[in-house]
Amino acid sequence: MQSRSGDASGPDQHGRPANPCTIVIFGSSGDLTKRKLIPALYNLSKGKLLPKEFAIIGFARSEGSDAAVREQLAKDIREYATGAVDPRLWNWFEERLHYVGGNFNDPKSYEKLKEALAKADKQHGTRGNYLFYLATPPGLFAEIVQQLGNAGLTAEENGQWRRVIVEKPFGRDLDSARALNGAIGGTLSENQIYRIDHYLGKETVQNILVFRFSNGIFEPIWNRQYIDHVQITVAESVGVEQRAGYYETSGALRDMVQNHLFQLLALIAMEPPISFEAEAVRDEKAKALRSVQPISPEDVLKCAVRGQYGDGMIGSNAIPAYRSSPGVNPSSNTESFVALKLFIENWRWAGVPFYLRTGKAMKRRVTEIAIQFKRAPHVLFRGTEAEHVPANFLVLHIQPREGISLSFQAKVPGPVVRAGAVDMEFEYSKYFGSDPTTGYETLLYDCMLGDATLFQRADTVEVGWQVVTPILDVWAALRARGFPNYAAGSWGPDEAAELLEQDGRAWRKID
Ligand SMILES: NC(=O)c1ccc[n+]([C@@H]2O[C@H](COP(=O)([O-])OP(=O)(O)OC[C@H]3O[C@@H](n4cnc5c(N)ncnc54)[C@H](OP(=O)(O)O)[C@@H]3O)[C@@H](O)[C@H]2O)c1
Repeated sequence: MQSRSGDASGPDQHGRPANPCTIVIFGSSGDLTKRKLIPALYNLSKGKLLPKEFAIIGFARSEGSDAAVREQLAKDIREYATGAVDPRLWNWFEERLHYVGGNFNDPKSYEKLKEALAKADKQHGTRGNYLFYLATPPGLFAEIVQQLGNAGLTAEENGQWRRVIVEKPFGRDLDSARALNGAIGGTLSENQIYRIDHYLGKETVQNILVFRFSNGIFEPIWNRQYIDHVQITVAESVGVEQRAGYYETSGALRDMVQNHLFQLLALIAMEPPISFEAEAVRDEKAKALRSVQPISPEDVLKCAVRGQYGDGMIGSNAIPAYRSSPGVNPSSNTESFVALKLFIENWRWAGVPFYLRTGKAMKRRVTEIAIQFKRAPHVLFRGTEAEHVPANFLVLHIQPREGISLSFQAKVPGPVVRAGAVDMEFEYSKYFGSDPTTGYETLLYDCMLGDATLFQRADTVEVGWQVVTPILDVWAALRARGFPNYAAGSWGPDEAAELLEQDGRAWRKID
């Protein structure tokens, strides 16, 4: 089917090139750079969204040179690009790639960086606008920002801008997030800080805003009068793989809930912003998250479920138990699954449960938000086979398939009155076509334009941690009993199903 308005416009189709600038990637020899950042920047150049006056400086510990880094990234792009690589375009891109080797703790390295930036300004005309991307271990974020400040690289003078993208995880609890906000806030003003959550770079997440606020038919029913409850599922079908070093100190609650799931929750629950300006959107998201009812330590055991996977099969692949994975403590207490029941205490949502679940090694890779509406009164159908009809679900599919579906009841043809569930489905790629992306394109482009709408503000990060910290505390104090408690390839532990069953509800069946 075709888009009826034919106006599949977004920044990718009709945007202007970003402002002249140099991007410095701290940690340019790492995994994120080769898998996501360079392919995303390459895609932006393909979409003519990079300025002509542009340069990238890779900065990492290893010794290296411009030539060596170009050779390496030329190899990597062949592996990680989201489409075919155009050699002429790559040449253009490659000429703008430079490298500085040094230690992030060493002030002398920042002097070298400063020289490289001045050289790039001259050679590429980048006009002293710098975007620093911290693709480094999180323990280095505060140190790097301080060193940049000491080297005089963060001051915005003579119309030049200086911005810093900070990767996740942003802290590991409320205290550490506050400390990190304080440390980087000592050098940078809030409008220079771009806390990234790559979930917000995904097209469908932004589509939630457009869907909610540009369709008059949904807003009147988007509240406790019509909505029974909301389910947010972020399921991964891979296990911990080689990431045990990080994951053992994190777990699913820190890794996924405080950031990605809460961002989705905020987009569903927020009030309409007064405009799509960054601060207006971020104010409303922060208000929604601040309205999440805190879970008391006594309620943690009732409203939060943790799980860890055992051996199992995903499709035809045998997945070893979390505790048998390389680098994992054989008696690890780390959760690879979380389910939560939360309430948002405000006029719109009072009494409507939000059920959240996320896990590794689950049956399918899927991210979706399912909104279940209240059931129709069934007096009319009493005594017929249609008496127990399921409720309507509106599902926002985020990955891997991006789209929206609405399930409703229709009469099954025939002499007996029977209702059957049918789906009205819309898929973005079918209507608008789509080029595969890394999910980082929009975020990098927005940052170059100075648009912080899709980035997290200090207060939203802290309020997220405020909600999960009591759960983390109780789970740290009480060792999980019965781990592993779900098989790899399932939908999680029985307790997660019980969390809804005790309220007379069930997780939406995902095929
Ligand atoms: N990988 C992903 O897909 C992904 C996804 C989401 C978020 N993230 C976040 O992105 C960040 C980077 O992840 P990553 O997977 O790319 O990490 P990584 O592969 O471990 O790379 C870390 C980089 O930092 C450099 N580095 C570390 N310590 C340094 C020091 N003292 N001085 C100079 N350079 C130093 C390393 O340089 P050398 O190689 O020279 O040592 C390397 O380039 C992390 O915060 C992570 O949580 C990653």
